[in-house]
Amino acid sequence: MKSLANKNILLGVTGGIAAYKSAEIVRHLKKSGASVRVVMTRSAEEFITPLTLQALSGNRVSTELLDAEAEAAMGHIELAKWADGILIAPATANTIARLSSGRGDDLLSTVTLAFDGPISVAPAMNQAMWRDERTQENLKKLIDQDFGICGPGSGEQACGDVGLGRMLEPIDILDMFSLSFNEGTLSGKKILITAGPTQEPIDPVRFITNRSSGKMGYSLVEAALESGANVTLISGPVNIEPPSNCNFVSIKTAEEMYEAVMHHISGMDVYIGTAAVSDYSPAKASDSKIKKDGSSSPMVLELKENQDILKSVSELEQRPYVVGFAAETNDLIKNAEKKLSNKNLDLIIANDVSNKDIGFDSDDNEVTLITEKEKHLIERQNKRKVSKKIIDFISGRINDQNN
Ligand code: CTP
Repeated sequence: MKSLANKNILLGVTGGIAAYKSAEIVRHLKKSGASVRVVMTRSAEEFITPLTLQALSGNRVSTELLDAEAEAAMGHIELAKWADGILIAPATANTIARLSSGRGDDLLSTVTLAFDGPISVAPAMNQAMWRDERTQENLKKLIDQDFGICGPGSGEQACGDVGLGRMLEPIDILDMFSLSFNEGTLSGKKILITAGPTQEPIDPVRFITNRSSGKMGYSLVEAALESGANVTLISGPVNIEPPSNCNFVSIKTAEEMYEAVMHHISGMDVYIGTAAVSDYSPAKASDSKIKKDGSSSPMVLELKENQDILKSVSELEQRPYVVGFAAETNDLIKNAEKKLSNKNLDLIIANDVSNKDIGFDSDDNEVTLITEKEKHLIERQNKRKVSKKIIDFISGRINDQNN
């Protein structure tokens, strides 16, 4: 199945015996990283309870068009705006007829009317109903209106008949449905991203750290997921929830980050080091809280240098495309170019952290992408958009490499 990661999928469930399989569809959708909302017709509720689909999707199931409370939470227009794609499974003969004539007399039909994106239906009905000319005509109208049609399959039916009309298996429906979305530029690629600061303990209550909110790294993770990549995120402590559809590894110290990166690096296509790794850590952390000694002499803390994780990755024999960040307060481009060559990187992203508008805790950023051959400025904008551009740049380069 192509990636449905980060997609908002609205599943319409209508009243057929195959409705019980919609629970499995929700489960597969969630597993592939999609957010799922379910709309059920009244007759679907005769076959499977909204509570089951609510528990599996993690969202309230919508059933009624004229329900003031539900409309206040997320009405039919909001549902249509929220969705990236609509899948109706099972789709009964009646639903197919109503959709084909553009009816808007219940919640599911109004949402599909208001929706402007890919819609697929998975027909499920008795074989004679499927073969009926009127059903076939309705189906043709849906095809003409760009609906995707998943199935039906052939075999023994619940009523004992044998023939075409059975709903396809959930995984096969999703295989077909996922084709309605354009393939991401990083589809099938594996990316390892480090983010956030590290914390180097001095004693049980104190540590050395670097300033980093993790925002840039986490938004790169989102952008990479949106491009269809399989993402592993190794992060120091930050106040951001990691996306549920990435492989998340939580660490605290630079040493732990180094170990985690080396453990996960094999087979990666891209490594992006956004983490603000502490260059030094206390030579020996005290087991107990260090007390003031009462003297006025300065306290001396012996520090040892940590391994440069980025450099270690670029020195690997089987190295991925290696991307580093240069957070600088002065001589931005010169310092970044030095790091590009000293650490033998494919790309360095130069970031002026002296500018408060684009610095550490800001939602905006402005960066220069530097490779051996080119420099490319991404002007100040939201970190989400900057991340998308960085990911597009990287996918362009690695796809070039592979051609
Ligand atoms: N980095 C790393 N391991 C370290 C230090 C830095 O992997 N021990 C990575 C960062 O994730 C970033 C890049 O190296 O991608 C540059 O980090 P930065 O702190 O700007 O550079 P340093 O090499 O530490 O140089 P300096 O602190 O002297 O500017």
